[in-house]
Amino acid sequence: MTRRLLSALLLCTSAIHLAFAATAQVFVPPSTGPLVQTANYTSFSNFTLDDRKVVKGRVFDRIVQVWLENTDFETAASTPIFESLAEQGILLTNFNSVTHPSEPNYIAAIGGDFFGSHDDNMYHIPSNISTVVDLLEDKDISWATYQENMDADGPHRSPQPTTPTPPPPPYPYYMRKHNGPVIFDAISQDASRARRIRTFNDFAADVVNGTLPQWVFVTPNMVNDAHDTTIDFAASFLEYWLVPLLTDPRVNGERTLILLTFDENHTGTEQNRVWTLALGTAIPLNLRGTTDDTLYTHYSTISTVENNWGLNSLGRQDTNASVSNVFAFVADKTGHKNVVLPPNEIPQFNLSAVVPGPLNSALFVPFSAPNLHARGAGGGSVLIRPGLDKTLTPDKLPKPVNMIALNRTTPFQMSPATVDGRHIIACADAQCSNTS
Ligand SMILES: *[C@@H]1O[C@H](CO)[C@@H](O)[C@H](O)[C@H]1NC(C)=O
Ligand SMILES: *[C@@H]1O[C@H](CO)[C@@H](O)[C@H](O)[C@H]1NC(C)=O
Ligand SMILES: *[C@@H]1O[C@H](CO)[C@@H](O)[C@H](O)[C@H]1NC(C)=O
Ligand SMILES: *[C@@H]1O[C@H](CO)[C@@H](O)[C@H](O)[C@H]1NC(C)=O
Ligand SMILES: *[C@@H]1O[C@H](CO)[C@@H](O)[C@H](O)[C@H]1NC(C)=O
Ligand SMILES: *[C@@H]1O[C@H](CO)[C@@H](O)[C@H](O)[C@H]1NC(C)=O
Ligand SMILES: *[C@@H]1O[C@H](CO)[C@@H](O)[C@H](O)[C@H]1NC(C)=O
Ligand SMILES: *[C@@H]1O[C@H](CO)[C@@H](O)[C@H](O)[C@H]1NC(C)=O
Repeated sequence: MTRRLLSALLLCTSAIHLAFAATAQVFVPPSTGPLVQTANYTSFSNFTLDDRKVVKGRVFDRIVQVWLENTDFETAASTPIFESLAEQGILLTNFNSVTHPSEPNYIAAIGGDFFGSHDDNMYHIPSNISTVVDLLEDKDISWATYQENMDADGPHRSPQPTTPTPPPPPYPYYMRKHNGPVIFDAISQDASRARRIRTFNDFAADVVNGTLPQWVFVTPNMVNDAHDTTIDFAASFLEYWLVPLLTDPRVNGERTLILLTFDENHTGTEQNRVWTLALGTAIPLNLRGTTDDTLYTHYSTISTVENNWGLNSLGRQDTNASVSNVFAFVADKTGHKNVVLPPNEIPQFNLSAVVPGPLNSALFVPFSAPNLHARGAGGGSVLIRPGLDKTLTPDKLPKPVNMIALNRTTPFQMSPATVDGRHIIACADAQCSNTS
């Protein structure tokens, strides 16, 4: 009898346990507000940035990008908080990610190309490859990225996860693959730049100190960005984090553009359209609550920044007119001419693994110089970093090599979990060219 009762009880407990486990995770605020530092993050901020200078842009003086994850346009569009935010901004209804999966999209948004990448591996892109950070610093425009749950030394220590889907919590909610700037050695291996790869506690410190930079890239953690949860979970996060900041002049002060977007849509079988909203004080009153169906991509965010501040360009996809239209509310004021592609020329943004590049081990070609004659939306020239071989233009690249078929072991491992871009590059320069 007792035993039966006990086992009944046990059964009941495990049923409750199961039911609990099956219940969707619920967002729990990590702090009392986005500007209050919390012990729930790895470390407290130990310095603030000192960015008080404002370099005037043509249309906006600050841009804050917030990237969520893996959601189809319609899913976000039918979720209440997204619907109400859309009433305050311009909904960009034809904004596309550039490929699948996540990491190449983050790389593209910083370097103007995803260099053939089609995975979430641990990469170091060599320091002669220029990024949007070079363009900004060249004109004295301050910048930072804020990565939720990154540890203070995250840029150097936090590991890349070895599995695409991490185990259930607790796990490292921060993912290096969603941290675009850290992947570029030109940024992370330069101490004065690496300090601008910051945590959410640093975000609170910088904002409270009135020193939030002019170009800001925000990566929420793996649950808050909807990656491991649902759009409703991400919506709760936005209510906690973004909504209060919209009325805070230290973040959304005069002439601020806040771009809320997604890295990519859910799966790759359809065009890669993502729900993207331009909001903030820079949006003219008469355009709030409207939509804009111009074709944009993550490259448009670089070209819009170039256009706004009259920057040089990277000479990569940021200057490829068919994928880098400037946000129309900006282009209309600066006089920039966007292109309208005929339907049969609209690129497919869901292609993956078919683009040759230094980060594609099956279709490997070395990093090339950019197109030195390109003209970006900022009107400037193409910015070149030290150590770049300007003669290695795209037309001079060797034919793609299948590195997997070559099956080399030293000095690089081609097993997907251990591929390190640094090694691939070393091979490309030394051994691969010698053996081909
Ligand atoms: C940390 O988060 C928990 C909820 O998960 C919350 O109860 C607690 O107050 C937070 N701690 C701090 C210091 O904010
Ligand atoms: C802040 O703390 C981190 C991690 O402990 C450390 O690496 C860094 O040098 C500190 N920076 C300053 C300015 O104290
Ligand atoms: C705020 O920024 C100024 C520089 O603008 C700096 O001197 C000061 O130490 C900062 N305050 C804090 C609390 O870090
Ligand atoms: C990706 O987005 C497109 C356009 O919004 C949508 O039609 C498609 O269903 C999405 N992908 C998937 C797998 O649902
Ligand atoms: C990309 O999306 C288009 C529809 O827009 C579809 O026809 C095509 O099959 C997709 N390609 C891949 C590789 O999934
Ligand atoms: C420009 O983008 C289109 C669409 O992705 C692509 O087909 C074309 O090759 C690109 N041009 C250059 C020069 O990269
Ligand atoms: C870029 O730098 C790497 C590493 O130093 C070097 O091997 C490569 O040849 C350079 N590529 C170009 C295009 O300059
Ligand atoms: C690659 O090399 C390993 C040993 O290093 C060997 O076991 C394997 O069969 C090779 N694969 C191919 C495709 O040659």
